[in-house]
Amino acid sequence: MPIPVMIDTDPGIDDALAIALAVRSPELSVIAVTTTYGNSQVAVTTRNARYLLERLGARTVPVWPGAARPLLRPPAFALDTHGEEGLGYAAVPPLPPDSAAVPPLPPDSIAATDPPNQAPRAMLETLAAADEPVTLIALGPLTNVALAVALDRERCQQSLREIIWMGGSAGAPGNTTPVSEWNAWCDPEAARMVFAADIPVRMVGLDATRCVFMPAALAAELGRHPDPEVRWWADMWRFYVEFHQRSEQLEGCVMNDPLAVAILLRPELARWQPMYVAVDCGWGLTRGQTICDRFGLTGNPANAAVALEADGQATLALALERGLGVRR
Ligand code: BDR
Ligand code: CA
Repeated sequence: MPIPVMIDTDPGIDDALAIALAVRSPELSVIAVTTTYGNSQVAVTTRNARYLLERLGARTVPVWPGAARPLLRPPAFALDTHGEEGLGYAAVPPLPPDSAAVPPLPPDSIAATDPPNQAPRAMLETLAAADEPVTLIALGPLTNVALAVALDRERCQQSLREIIWMGGSAGAPGNTTPVSEWNAWCDPEAARMVFAADIPVRMVGLDATRCVFMPAALAAELGRHPDPEVRWWADMWRFYVEFHQRSEQLEGCVMNDPLAVAILLRPELARWQPMYVAVDCGWGLTRGQTICDRFGLTGNPANAAVALEADGQATLALALERGLGVRR
């Protein structure tokens, strides 16, 4: 029987490949997708999630639009990383006219004017209807997940098998501040709530995802692939490579999110250690830092299993082969 999964996501170039891997893997059954602000505004990430599912032949998967902003903080979007449309240079349809993008409000505004956040309730209803525990794969800021836990913690505890989150870092350099990863930085309060929820969490952070590296030469080669579908995907990666060259002087790009799906399919792809994880909810350079107690120095019990390294080549090969039919 396939593993039932919900995906909370902000597509997002690397989210897109993670979604492709998930919906094209017979071991998994994607029963719901919820979207969040993050890489772009939620109207954009929702449009992208729907469009990707359509292109992947999975249009029956329901998509629920989620949070437009973090719990307490002003929103930020990673347009430099993923492009104005969230998928780099890949062509996407225009936003539906009724989904006007939410302009970032000044920090003292309330979120009452946002489009309704349907994700937390949709998650809870999906859990209530499921015959067996569901795995939640979270690929963006944890705002929706924290709200679902706040609304009905017992349901989440009973019906979630685990939360697999791409976010945080145990010791690898940050990608947003010198020590903070983007998804954790966006909504540290939400991340803190999820780690405190008493639900099994596997944290797939930068220590492991930095191993999943697509060299610029491979991205360029796939840009010349005979299949136009592969070339559409390569239009994303060309943008992503340019970003990584600018920001980290890398000759290629880090494909974070697919690893969070791949480890469900092939547990041996990552090395794990259970540990206590605290999240810094300050405002400076350590905002969103995930402080990972590898040696038990706090005396606190483990609240997560943390991926410390991964077989990046095997992960990328699996994602490309399953998701796009590209064999390496
Ligand atoms: C994470 O942030 C986003 O830019 C990516 O989609 C990924 O989820 C990496 O820090
Ligand atoms: Ca993401």
